[in-house]
Parts: sequence; structure tokens; C-alpha cells
Amino acid sequence: MTANLRCRYLGLDLTGPIVASAGPLTGRLDTLQRLEDAGASAVVLPSLFEEEIIATAFHLHDMHGQGTGVFAEANSYLPDLPEMPTDADRYLDLVADARERLSIPVIASLNGMSAGGWVRYATELAQAGASAIELNVYLMAADPADTAATVEDRLLDLVLAVRAAVAIPIAVKLSPYFSALGNVAEAVAGAGADGLVLFNRFYQPEIDLQTLTVVPSLDLSTQADLRLPLRWIGVLHNRVPCSLALSGGVHNWADAVKGLLAGADVVMTTSALLRLGPEHVRELLRGVSTWLDENDYESVEQLCGSMSQQSVPDPDVYERSNYLKVLRHGSAKYLPQFVRLED
Ligand SMILES: Cc1cc2nc3c(=O)[nH]c(=O)nc-3n(C[C@H](O)[C@H](O)[C@H](O)COP(=O)(O)O)c2cc1C
Repeated sequence: MTANLRCRYLGLDLTGPIVASAGPLTGRLDTLQRLEDAGASAVVLPSLFEEEIIATAFHLHDMHGQGTGVFAEANSYLPDLPEMPTDADRYLDLVADARERLSIPVIASLNGMSAGGWVRYATELAQAGASAIELNVYLMAADPADTAATVEDRLLDLVLAVRAAVAIPIAVKLSPYFSALGNVAEAVAGAGADGLVLFNRFYQPEIDLQTLTVVPSLDLSTQADLRLPLRWIGVLHNRVPCSLALSGGVHNWADAVKGLLAGADVVMTTSALLRLGPEHVRELLRGVSTWLDENDYESVEQLCGSMSQQSVPDPDVYERSNYLKVLRHGSAKYLPQFVRLED
């Protein structure tokens, strides 16, 4: 018997557990179509950035104002420029077009700076037909005057405001950098989020020694990046009242199976698709399906969470209990090539 791959995420019925997360391949209709054809059960569009919209608006305002200061009377007219679509307009068109073209859910992603901006654009995304909204929360708590409570309150206020403004499902893509992540996850769900995406990937700046400048850098993930979200999905499964999506380090079908075993309702992938193309989704699905059949699982839903912290015989393994053992094992494995251990 072939296992049933269907699953539920954010209250949406999905054909399978592989979702294409936000990235360049989800920003174009042609690659979106290829992702659907390969079996992606939903797509998350790249984020709409509030600061980009504001920058474009300022730029357009400057263009409209050009020349108006040259003559006194010039201040009374504005040059007749054609209506230019803004980044937000183009994004809303992408949402509407993707919804029309695809039969799978299209999740819009929003990265805001101000509470007003989050609410305004969330409302517009919902009106454009988005099946759900993923809030890409990228808050850097860099100001020493900010307390953990202030940062968390800011996050919860955003979620509450967006929740009050739209009726479609909301997911919140969290960063792993909270001192009490479990509590934050629960509070975000309590504020009305239908799901959490673990995790947002912070891109770290790099120092260029040639130019002596600090430059942004973006590397694709590796399979080693799976461990952090895997642990937290395992810990939070069945403990927070919302869906869980794993994002980070899913490169092959085995990574996907691990994410589902830990308790993700869906696993998301971007880097692997950028390396191997949208059709890689087909390989991921085929691998998951074969593994389920070979291991006598009837469905993805049956698999989901069967190795979460609450389901394994030694729950401590998700927390600290093996820390010492792991360090000792690492020493025994790596040190002997440099020293004689009996010395
Ligand atoms: C080139 C690139 C662009 C991305 N753009 C976005 C984005 O616009 N919004 C967002 O929330 N995440 C964005 N991401 C992050 C991915 O959605 C994903 O969370 C992250 O890459 C970890 O998953 P992975 O290991 O499967 O790549 C981007 C990632 C890459 C590599």
C-alpha cells in the first residue's frame, strides 16, 4: 500500500509535506509552476519588505519633484510622469497571478518595520488573495537598552495587530535567538498565530580584508543546519497549540523524514532547490513516500511527531542529558590524530 502523504498546515489541507520556502524560486511564476508540478504542496513567496516600499516611494517622490525648485513658478506644477508600479504593487500582482495560476496554497511573506506597515500590507496581501501570510520577523535586539521582555512584547504586538486585521491564517517565522524560546512560541500562538516556522535564518555580515569593509554575505545552508530546527520542533511538538513548519537544512528526503519524525507538520526547503532546481521536490517526495512504505507507516500524519521529545523513551536527549557524553565522544574521536592519549 502506498502511504498517504496528505497533511494539514495552518488549517490548510495540503497534498504533501514538502513546502517551498521563501526564496528566489518562489518569486517568479515560471519557477512557481515548476515547484507545483514537482509536488510542492504550498509555496511561500519571497518577503515583501516594508523598507523597500518606503525607499521606492521616496525615490518616486524625488523624481516627481525634479526641476520644481528651478523657477519660482515651477513649484506650482509637477512633471507629468507615468504612473509607476511600486514594489508593493508588483508583489500584490505576483500574489494574485500565482493564486490564479497554481492550485496549491500561495503563502505571502511580509517583513515589516512599523506596526502600521505590518497591518496595512497584511490587509492588502489578504485582499490580493494570499492563502495565508508568513510574518518574517527579523528583529535584531542589538540595543543594550532593550530587554528581552521589550523585544518579545514588540513581537507579540505585531502578531496581535495582524491577527486583528486579517482573517486568513498567519504563520510567524521566528529566529532561534530568544532566551526562553518555548515561552515565546506559546505566546505567539496565544496571540493568534496559526503556525510557527522554525527558523528564520539571519544572514551574518562578513569583513572583506581587501576593501576593509563590512559586507553582507549569504551562504546557502548545509545539512548540518538541520539540527537546530530539528531539536526545537521535537521539543515544541504537541506543546504549542499551532502548526509547526521546519525550515533550515532540509536537503534530501532523509532530512525531510527526520523533520516529520521530530514533529513538523511540513518541512520547507530553499537552499537545496537553489542548488538542484525546483524538480528536486519530486526526489524529496519520492524518498519520503518510499521510506514510509518500507517502514510500514500508513501516512505522513502517523509519522508526524513519532520521535518528538514526548514520544521518545529518553526525552532528556532533546535537552542536556547527553551533553557530557557528546563532548567526551568528540574528544575521543578527534584528538588522537594530534596526541597520544596516554601522555
Ligand atoms: C537567496 C535566499 C533568499 C531568501 N529570501 C527570503 C525571504 O525573502 N524571506 C524569508 O522569510 N526567507 C528568505 N530566505 C530564507 C529561506 O526561506 C529559508 O528560511 C532559509 O534559507 C533556510 O532554509 P534552507 O536551509 O532550506 O535554505 C531566503 C534564503 C535564500 C537562500
